[in-house]
Amino acid sequence: MTHASFNPAYFGRLRDLEARSFWFQGRSRLIEWALTKYFPEAPSFLEVGCGTGYVLSRLSEAFPNIALSGSELFDEGLTFARERLVGIATLMQLDATAMPFKEAFDVVGAFDVIEHIEDDVIVLENIHRALRPGGGLLVTVPQHAWLWSETDVAACHVRRYSRTELRDRLRAAGFEILRMTSFVSLLLPAMLLARRRARSGDGMAEVEAELDLPAPLNAIGRATLWLESIAIRAGIDLPAGGSLLAVARKPPVAG
Ligand SMILES: C[S@@+](CC[C@H](N)C(=O)[O-])C[C@H]1O[C@@H](n2cnc3c(N)ncnc32)[C@H](O)[C@@H]1O
Repeated sequence: MTHASFNPAYFGRLRDLEARSFWFQGRSRLIEWALTKYFPEAPSFLEVGCGTGYVLSRLSEAFPNIALSGSELFDEGLTFARERLVGIATLMQLDATAMPFKEAFDVVGAFDVIEHIEDDVIVLENIHRALRPGGGLLVTVPQHAWLWSETDVAACHVRRYSRTELRDRLRAAGFEILRMTSFVSLLLPAMLLARRRARSGDGMAEVEAELDLPAPLNAIGRATLWLESIAIRAGIDLPAGGSLLAVARKPPVAG
């Protein structure tokens, strides 16, 4: 069975949503923190499945000296990314299941991408090959199969991950895991409720219902992710949440 890994018609709506949604902002801050904490000296960073380039644009502000690259399956996403990242990042159209790189990058990120791809281990193996020895991987994925709903189907997800599934797949691809924590934990009950009510069959409409909130609710969402980030920065691995962050490393060459 073939599976369309994403609907390029969503990119325009995502481009508008990213700038104002607490979820995109909070996740981006978490990614910036993980890069600073675990790979502070990284000279280069590739984002696989970079979509409209939102995360790369945030990273370019936080890490002006890092050489940024982004790859994306669909030209429709790259068109938005090019607008945002002109002169800032090297962008390329590339299928993550067929990446040509070997020891070319110091850190690779895949943010809410591998759940769209049937053979996620091939993607993780490609990323492993693309990294220099000792290089880092930052991944975010949707968590908990019991949160699966029509929203996942319409959003072109193949799966939601358990912690064990993500850990096993990272290890199968050759990675050492440095850190794994859930996030969007405090909002989990609200998320479960929203998923139970999701009925439209329009993935972006359901995503917007969860993430494009009126200003007061968006502010509450922002505050909950900020509280969670305090706990995560203090070393607490949150046990449950809508999303999962993994920080992993390609082992350095022995000897
Ligand atoms: C939910 S979006 C996330 C976009 C971006 N990483 C972000 O977090 O804002 C999933 C992205 O994965 C991309 N994608 C899906 N399958 C892919 C593949 N085989 N190779 C490269 N990118 C892929 C989609 O085109 C889409 O841009």
